[in-house]
Amino acid sequence: MLRKIAITAASVLALSGGTVLAAEGGLVEDLAFSFEGPFGKFEENQLQRGLQVYTEVCSACHGMKLVPIRSLADEGGPGLPEDQVRAYAAQFTVTDAETGEDRPATPSDHFPSSSLENAPDLSLMAKARAGFRGPYGTGINQFFRGIGGPEYIYSLLTGYTGEEVEQAGTTFYGNHTFPSGLIAMTPPLSDELITYQDGTEATVQQMAEDVSAFLMWAAEPKMMDRKKAGLVAVLFLSLISVLLYLTNKRIWAPYKGKH
Ligand code: HEC
Repeated sequence: MLRKIAITAASVLALSGGTVLAAEGGLVEDLAFSFEGPFGKFEENQLQRGLQVYTEVCSACHGMKLVPIRSLADEGGPGLPEDQVRAYAAQFTVTDAETGEDRPATPSDHFPSSSLENAPDLSLMAKARAGFRGPYGTGINQFFRGIGGPEYIYSLLTGYTGEEVEQAGTTFYGNHTFPSGLIAMTPPLSDELITYQDGTEATVQQMAEDVSAFLMWAAEPKMMDRKKAGLVAVLFLSLISVLLYLTNKRIWAPYKGKH
């Protein structure tokens, strides 16, 4: 409901269909993620699918060095059972800071960092990119639709045009979301690239949406707590306002209507 109002208000501002022109010219599609709005929540199943996409596809090049592996067990996150988190951690090898020797990672280690030098770390990517801006630099779109980090990632992953350009020995791929229009990342997703554990059909759109939600969680794992705290604050302030209003009335009651 809230979302509908927001979208309507946004379209009144003369914005085209589901896409908005970002400041640098990249196209970003608006998606209805489960975690949007004041009551939004991460969907556990989606985060688990996103983790699978990240692990089987993205982590070949990218890292997430700021995210502790143990947070995969957190409530409100992917919610993996402890033994699965331990098994997940054990597939990575880390160099122990104390002994200097290589050992299997444990849940208290972080995800590995990027293995490909020019692939950026994805820990905070969903908060580092803005999908929505404007119109005309006012940022009203962000007010109605959110900053749009996960939408940016989704659009980037689904926005390949098929064009390929060689420049100075490097191949760049046409992408209608990447600001320059040409990105050095090979299109990472194709239909049925992975087999989802929960049987969901692995279309490019599905994988892109799941991994974007997962990266949003990685960048802001406490989002649900923040929303809850915000809601309590709003309720509390409303209650205080009513009480203050009544107190004010009471204090002045003896002096009213005497002149
Ligand atoms: C084959 C290696 C490779 C794989 C696999 C890969 N990426 Fe990338 N990615 C790159 C490189 C290289 C860049 C830097 C591109 C550039 O700056 O032109 C990049 C950049 C990005 C960016 C940043 C774009 C920006 O705005 O700067 C995002 C987001 C991203 N990748 C997400 C993903 C996700 C999500 C996956 C998994 C579905 C993935 N990548 C898989 C190599 C890869």
